[in-house]
Amino acid sequence: MSSPAKTFRLAILISGRGSNMAALIDAAQSGKIPAAEVAVVISDQSAASGLQRANECGIETVVIERRGRSREEHDREIIAALRERKIDFICLAGYMRILSRDFIEAYPRRILNIHPSLLPSFTGLEAQKQALEHGVKVAGCTVHFVDESLDGGPIIAQREVPVREADTVEALSARILEQEHRLYPEAVATVLAQAQVNLAANS
Ligand code: GRF
Repeated sequence: MSSPAKTFRLAILISGRGSNMAALIDAAQSGKIPAAEVAVVISDQSAASGLQRANECGIETVVIERRGRSREEHDREIIAALRERKIDFICLAGYMRILSRDFIEAYPRRILNIHPSLLPSFTGLEAQKQALEHGVKVAGCTVHFVDESLDGGPIIAQREVPVREADTVEALSARILEQEHRLYPEAVATVLAQAQVNLAANS
């Protein structure tokens, strides 16, 4: 007899408005990401507007600010909060910090990020502006595993967004964001489905 699917516990890390966070919560709560529960939303900014949204969805929220500590010390507190809640996967969603090596090594291939460009093009800040300045005809978004490089880990999924004549950064960013909200839940579902297969194979 096959064992029942495990429900994976997800943490979402944010620093700001959390629209991708909201898309992931919706997808998990509506079953579009099967066998997943968003167990906690962690923000490094107490003023992040995404926190209120997470609360409204009934998700626990935790604020862990940097408060002048080293990246390693800050991450240690976050890792402790994740371990306490038995988190399986971590989704960065507009989380504006680079993770320490210890954090990445604590969760190998279990930390995902979304970036508003077709990586490896246009890493870092203002990816949509960089794309327009280069005159690309096709922009897009990428979900990838997080490693120690800036937006450089293995790619899980990508979606193209055509650039229009006379596009502004705002207009292009809005069209990319719409696709981000679809792509991120799909990519998380893909990763979790593979994790179920691996679990079954090892049981
Ligand atoms: C998104 O464009 C995401 O790709 C990038 O930061 C932005 C976060 O937006 N990493 P939101 O907080 O999810 O609304």
